[in-house]
Amino acid sequence: PAPGGPRRGALVVFEGIDRCGKSTQCSLLLESLQRRGVRAELWRFPDRTTPIGGLINEYLQKKAALDDAVIHLLFVANRNEKREEMLRLLAGGTTLVLDRYSYSGVAYTAAKGVPHLDAGFCRAAETGLPAADLVVYLDLDPEQSAARGGFGSERYEKVEFQKKVRSQYGALADGRWLRLDASQPAEQLQAQVAAAVQRAVERAAAGEPLGRLWD
Ligand code: TMP
Ligand code: MG
Repeated sequence: PAPGGPRRGALVVFEGIDRCGKSTQCSLLLESLQRRGVRAELWRFPDRTTPIGGLINEYLQKKAALDDAVIHLLFVANRNEKREEMLRLLAGGTTLVLDRYSYSGVAYTAAKGVPHLDAGFCRAAETGLPAADLVVYLDLDPEQSAARGGFGSERYEKVEFQKKVRSQYGALADGRWLRLDASQPAEQLQAQVAAAVQRAVERAAAGEPLGRLWD
């Protein structure tokens, strides 16, 4: 970091199929970071509070039908409308915990199997955005996630589709992802998450530059 300048925060992203436990782990992580005095914020994508997020919400709740390319690009736009604020917070030393990000964008759209929306196209659409310092991938069998409460109400919450999403995540994951078996108890998962996140926060504070997708 610049001498005397702020130490940047880390960009930590949680990924996985629907109902794999991301939101629970994100909340537990935020509490543990704040207990340790690490300045941190928790965001989720899609951010349903913006006008673009409102369109995405209608699509997910099956109140609106949209072309597959259009909904894909709305998800991308929804990340880009938060890009500058993300960069500003990170540069100012805040660690950002994201409940889904670009990796969801690629995995879910590519899982549709639409020829002109393959993984290559999806990845290319994300290239202006910062890369995660750490991706925590909560891996779960879709038969197990489907048995969890709340599954089935939104557009993508069907076991057959979730299986395809899981296989897309498998193709996307590189050796730097922390892949965890999400069938473990929440506290046990959290201990593994917290250790990896602490290392990511330390690397960021020590001046490791923020990457760009897909470096
Ligand atoms: P949520 O359940 O975490 O609120 O996410 C809503 C759904 O949107 C979920 O099924 C994953 C999907 N999704 C995409 O298809 N593309 C994206 O870029 C993101 C962030 C989520
Ligand atoms: Mg969901």
